[in-house]
Amino acid sequence: MSENIIYCYSGSGHCLAMAKDIAARLGDTDIVLMRAYPEKTDATEASRVGFIFPCYGGGLPGHVEEYIKAIKIAPGAYKFAVEQFAGYMGCGLHKIDEIVGLDYWNYISNHSTCIWLMPHGLCFPPTSKEQAQQRVDRKAMEVASAVKAGIRSEKKPPKMAFFALESNAFSKLHPKRAGKFWANDSCIGCGTCARICPRGNITLKDGKPGFGKDCIGCLSCVQYCPKEAINVGKITEKRERFPNPAVKAADLTKKIIHID
Ligand SMILES: Cc1cc2nc3c(=O)[nH]c(=O)nc-3n(C[C@H](O)[C@H](O)[C@H](O)COP(=O)(O)O)c2cc1C
Repeated sequence: MSENIIYCYSGSGHCLAMAKDIAARLGDTDIVLMRAYPEKTDATEASRVGFIFPCYGGGLPGHVEEYIKAIKIAPGAYKFAVEQFAGYMGCGLHKIDEIVGLDYWNYISNHSTCIWLMPHGLCFPPTSKEQAQQRVDRKAMEVASAVKAGIRSEKKPPKMAFFALESNAFSKLHPKRAGKFWANDSCIGCGTCARICPRGNITLKDGKPGFGKDCIGCLSCVQYCPKEAINVGKITEKRERFPNPAVKAADLTKKIIHID
């Protein structure tokens, strides 16, 4: 039984790194990964329940919306959320607020991990990745202090209705884009991609990954391949990867991470 539960989605580790930082400041926290259906949906024992997630395609990533609908939270529990994004916030915070009723919310821009679409350096306002990380670290400290003090946000998160449309369109593209994943000759057949894929969509055949259609676009395979061998179409071959240095591929395969 933990005092705090943080539900976290993370494709390239940045939201998980932030969740760990906030958890360490709060103490006694279970971080429940939402890359697949969460291991723990009964959060009724927790006095604080948090959500830390990235903006993907203008909205919530993966199946996070339906997963959050399955979570049971005790009446009177304090509920908070933090969103990371590169250029714009989208509708994710609003969606979570609609489902759980947030007491406190916050957000921060980090570099983009959507490298099949744009270079990772995209960030608002533009800054180096070291400075972006420092900004995220400061935000984690601010959020943890606010949560400890039981601060309540004065306003609701903005609806951002346009981004709900983008989000619907974006998730429909995943099966089509899944056909564009491939591994180049640098692949050593280590299997990291198959282990990290939250959908079990990657299988090794003759020592090389094969990609199915059940992709949610987390890009973990692209970001965490130790040889940077996995690509989406041609464009990612020239683009720098951007996994969070404090989060290893194995961390993303865990279902629950407990922090004392
Ligand atoms: C598939 C994908 C879609 C993204 N879509 C958006 C977006 O619509 N708007 C935005 O500002 N950032 C977008 N981003 C950037 C992420 O929100 C940002 O890089 C975040 O820090 C990633 O967190 P993570 O490493 O925990 O997955 C996207 C990233 C990915 C991988």
